[in-house]
Amino acid sequence: MATEKCQMRALILVGGYGTRLRPLTLSRPKPLVEFANKPILLHQIEALKEAGVTEVILAVSYRADEMEKELKHETEKLGVNLIFSHETEPLGTAGPLALAKDILLTSSEPFYVLNSDVICDFPFQELEKFHRNHGKEGTIVVTKVEEPSKYGVVLYNNDGCIESFIEKPQEFVSNKINAGLYILNPSVLSRIQLKPTSIEKEVFPYMSSDKQLYAFELNGFWMDIGQPKDFLTGMCLYLNSLKHRDPSQLYEGEGIVGNVLVDPSAKIGKGCRIGPNIDLDIRLIKML
Ligand code: GDD
Ligand code: MG
Repeated sequence: MATEKCQMRALILVGGYGTRLRPLTLSRPKPLVEFANKPILLHQIEALKEAGVTEVILAVSYRADEMEKELKHETEKLGVNLIFSHETEPLGTAGPLALAKDILLTSSEPFYVLNSDVICDFPFQELEKFHRNHGKEGTIVVTKVEEPSKYGVVLYNNDGCIESFIEKPQEFVSNKINAGLYILNPSVLSRIQLKPTSIEKEVFPYMSSDKQLYAFELNGFWMDIGQPKDFLTGMCLYLNSLKHRDPSQLYEGEGIVGNVLVDPSAKIGKGCRIGPNIDLDIRLIKML
């Protein structure tokens, strides 16, 4: 008998004011800032849907109405149920999980957790498989970076079992870092109280000393696009990956240089040269 794939949930951490991404966040909350002509959040929700996620909880601490208005329609089209979990005070990166506990505990299945400012070749299906195989409480996606001090650094053995998790270390420990994507069993919720709590400082270090946290290495590009310079680098990496994955999405024609995305709303005048690494629509041009 064929077993039906169980329905999965995800929680996306959408709080924070996005001050590091100004001026893009002056007019819109960070998760709605357009990345390659689409709100950042939609890139994540589409990838989750492809991995079988049918319900996404958005953990929001401000500007929720704007997000609801903009995203509901798109997620309905995708067949994803969007639930808003409102914080009256910012609960950090773990507190929102405790706030959404009643929803998350209605299933015994593991759930995904995402930082909302991460773009990459999302590896959700392989991540789930790896997680179910080792059978412990949590798995975090890990990637390599040149400047690890800006991130959460992880040390792990050959099996992937994490030995230590150090958030934003002052001294070099390793260049393998937390990519901000997790899959966690519901049992992790018993480690988190309903108050402002950091998952990186107050949950992961304890899970790793209990040998309950594993690392899954990401193949492919990754970027936290929460700062303007990284946003632009992320755009280059994304367009380059699109060139290999789905080149038909890139625009071709006279005057186009390198990887360029053009939204149908954009009109290109005669004699223009456009590119490289640009996403063009009627409202703005972002370029390197
Ligand atoms: N709901 C809610 N409430 N979300 C929050 C809050 C809050 O109070 N505070 C932060 N967030 C969300 C942010 O919107 C973001 O999506 C995510 O939590 C992480 O916060 P950042 O401020 O972007 O953290 P970071 O980039 O310095 O570090 C984090 O991401 C790195 C990868 O990009 C950490 O998780 C690091 O360990 C990791 O390496
Ligand atoms: Mg970030």
